[in-house]
Amino acid sequence: MGLGEAQVLSHIPNVNPVPASEREALLRDPAFGRVFTDHMVTIRFSEGRGWHEGWLGPQGELPLHPGALVLHYAQEIFEGMKAYRLPDDGVALFRPEANARRFRNSAVRLDMPPLPEDLFLESVRSLVRADRDWIPRAEGGALYLRPFMIATEAALGLKSSSDYLYAVVASPSVGYLKSDASAITLWASETYSRAAPGGTGEAKCGGNYAAGLAAHAEAVREGCRQVVFLDAAERRWVEEVGSMNVFFVFDDGSLLTPPLTGTILPGITRDSLITVAADLGLTVREEPYSIDQWYADALSGRLREVFGCGTAAVVTPIGRVRGRSFDFTVGDGQAGPVAERLKAALTDLQNGRRPDPYGWLDKVR
Ligand code: PLP
Ligand code: COI
Repeated sequence: MGLGEAQVLSHIPNVNPVPASEREALLRDPAFGRVFTDHMVTIRFSEGRGWHEGWLGPQGELPLHPGALVLHYAQEIFEGMKAYRLPDDGVALFRPEANARRFRNSAVRLDMPPLPEDLFLESVRSLVRADRDWIPRAEGGALYLRPFMIATEAALGLKSSSDYLYAVVASPSVGYLKSDASAITLWASETYSRAAPGGTGEAKCGGNYAAGLAAHAEAVREGCRQVVFLDAAERRWVEEVGSMNVFFVFDDGSLLTPPLTGTILPGITRDSLITVAADLGLTVREEPYSIDQWYADALSGRLREVFGCGTAAVVTPIGRVRGRSFDFTVGDGQAGPVAERLKAALTDLQNGRRPDPYGWLDKVR
């Protein structure tokens, strides 16, 4: 089956879905990314045929040749997005066209064929429609969707693949960085960088995360929750935090977030918070901020709050930062009022609890 302009995925319903009682038990407190729903989407690409064989079918394993290029040279990209349950029991995706665009940009950077954005949207909407019963009802509950694309051509010579598999899986989520404290502690790695100018920092590709794992392990060894990555050239400028963008809140009520200079993932939560904060009357600056300034502003009290944001992590307050030669606390080390206010504003929007003046909700019928 070829996929033309009017893209339609063929459906094969899962005839052995997880029984409702078992599903409800799984939804009570799913560990992030450990529980998967009944269905998945797969679409193939080959140079001769373009995008073809689009299916929504039972969730299962992927057949993969051991020589597939993704396994050797990491030609892979992914997205992370959520579907939310609305007060009227409807379901909505949040800004899915922004994920479709970023997925396209990531594909271009990894020399992969861009998936048409309407096909991306159709794939995630179809999966949400099929597995909407998997959205947890608990506060903070959502269906986390993971679209991804891998290079499937079997070839050990270094080249871009001629064949690809695009797939979407879904996983119920009620939280990512759960912790007993209201704010997390970061580790500022002096050993590792995440991304360098000209590299793949602004693409959402698996290789970026693989490159960050040793830094994350170092942070965990030091008793911290996430790494704060500094720029690779000067090891001075704050870029992002583990799997989140970062915001700083000052005593005059203004906010600052590092600018998108090519080495940082352009977060959709970051972009949404910039808009929401401005509409709440807060000033947001996109400016470079150094780790030394962070330390100085935390000590002087000029800096009141810091928080990370992302699809999985939502808004996560940051209370303390440690490195080889420093250890400082921001404010009282707890979640602050601005982070709480922005989190409430964002999640109320996502869950349809307040009007959506931006047209960000994509209702899935
Ligand atoms: N930065 C990194 C490295 C991430 O992995 C993520 C999560 O996707 C983000 C930032 C936040 O991006 P978004 O808000 O689009 O989820
Ligand atoms: C997301 O927030 O969607 C991410 O991709 C983070 C991931 C590492 C769980």
